[in-house]
Amino acid sequence: MSETAKLQIDDKTHEFPVVVGSENEHAIDIAKLRAQTGYITLDDGYGNTGSCQSSITYIDGEKGILRYRGIPIEQLAEHSTFVETAWLIIWGHLPTKQELASFRAQLVRHEMLHEGLRQMFDGFPASGHPMAILSAMINAMSCYHPDVMKIEMDDQATFESAAARLLSKVRTIAAASYKTSIGQPIMYPRPEKSYCENFLHMMFSIPNQRYAADPDVAQALNLILILHADHEQNCSTSTVRMVGSSGANLFASCSAGVCALWGPLHGGANVAVLEQLEYLHREKVDLKAFIEESKAKDSNKRLMGFGHRVYKNFDPRANILKAAADKVLKLLKVKDPLLDIARHLEEVALKDSYFVERKLYPNVDFYSGIIMRAMGIPVSMFTVMFAIGRMPGWIANWKEIHDDPNSRISRPRQVYTGPTKRDYVPMDQRG
Ligand code: SDX
Repeated sequence: MSETAKLQIDDKTHEFPVVVGSENEHAIDIAKLRAQTGYITLDDGYGNTGSCQSSITYIDGEKGILRYRGIPIEQLAEHSTFVETAWLIIWGHLPTKQELASFRAQLVRHEMLHEGLRQMFDGFPASGHPMAILSAMINAMSCYHPDVMKIEMDDQATFESAAARLLSKVRTIAAASYKTSIGQPIMYPRPEKSYCENFLHMMFSIPNQRYAADPDVAQALNLILILHADHEQNCSTSTVRMVGSSGANLFASCSAGVCALWGPLHGGANVAVLEQLEYLHREKVDLKAFIEESKAKDSNKRLMGFGHRVYKNFDPRANILKAAADKVLKLLKVKDPLLDIARHLEEVALKDSYFVERKLYPNVDFYSGIIMRAMGIPVSMFTVMFAIGRMPGWIANWKEIHDDPNSRISRPRQVYTGPTKRDYVPMDQRG
């Protein structure tokens, strides 16, 4: 393939370099497009636009491939833990025994919240949305850890403690927001517990009655978090990079990521899927009729948990979660009619030409909620679980920008379509 791409505008041919990635992806480098032609590109939703070159995660949407630092998601789901996968994503290689032990020690050291941060929960109303609380608390962390404000490029020690603080405290904050919402006392982390068991303890223990995490529940939580750990330049990760590109600190950038993830088209979809399944079950809705409604342009109904900007064949994470759903529910002796409805919905949709022609398949959100519900995680916390899982990916993407001496602030252009030049009209002359 050619090293350059040619663009013909009027009678002039312009050439631009072609960039080829390690998996043979080809991109046209248009850094000099406007200087050379006076034109910019326009790409609503950035469906065809690469915002960066990254070595963290690779997705092949046609083949249903997802790899973190080259390792297939299927192998990590089977063999790894969330903490080990987080290290891989952030630092680029599987940790040695020593590196993993040291990282775990960091996570334990940073699991508590400063009492000033903990007291902030007294001000949130019980009805406060946990994603609003999570975003606020992550940003507020920089008030208590000012060293995160200025991490020098070569200062790996400060970055490592900031990353460990964020990855560890996000659990404590999430569990505390849940406890606040149900009027129970906040449970402090237990240093002897693993990452997932500690989270489950903080969520479900009450004073004088400690929740003993079922190992199968902790294992299911590991799987959920591993599958959500990164996903190249999705909406929330791109938000973290956009905010980080201005020099904003790690906590502020990831707090912005939480806000982007909250939307129902993105991380909020796992809540929307559960609500959709509960509605279908409660109202005994005919699935075929519901599918028809989700296809109608004028109905604002979509089949939540279906479709993806990148995956046009299948979402490998959905396949893993679909298989796990059966196993986890059997292990936990949970019979959930919503799983049968989800399966039936998928079966009906995948026989419908509307979905087949548009290459719409179940995505990561379609089955994840059923597993989380079986684990006892409340629906209101589903998107928070997604945020906990995605934290390593956000941290790694922030680091990739922060470590790049040539990184520039993100500042897209636009095509203006508003009023052309007109004069100011004094109030007494306005209609
Ligand atoms: C995540 O980017 C990532 O990697 C995200 C994520 C990650 O790990 O970070 O994978 C996590 O966000 C998964 C997606 C969760 N969202 C949902 O499940 C919400 C439902 N899905 C859709 O809203 C939609 O499929 C998106 C948002 C996921 C993708 O939207 P696109 O790429 O902008 O696609 P589109 O809206 O242009 O749809 C193309 C066509 C349209 O029909 P036509 O105009 O061609 O007639 O497909 C239709 C859409 O109406 N369509 C759907 C549909 N999804 C797309 N129709 C019914 N139900 C759906 N779910």
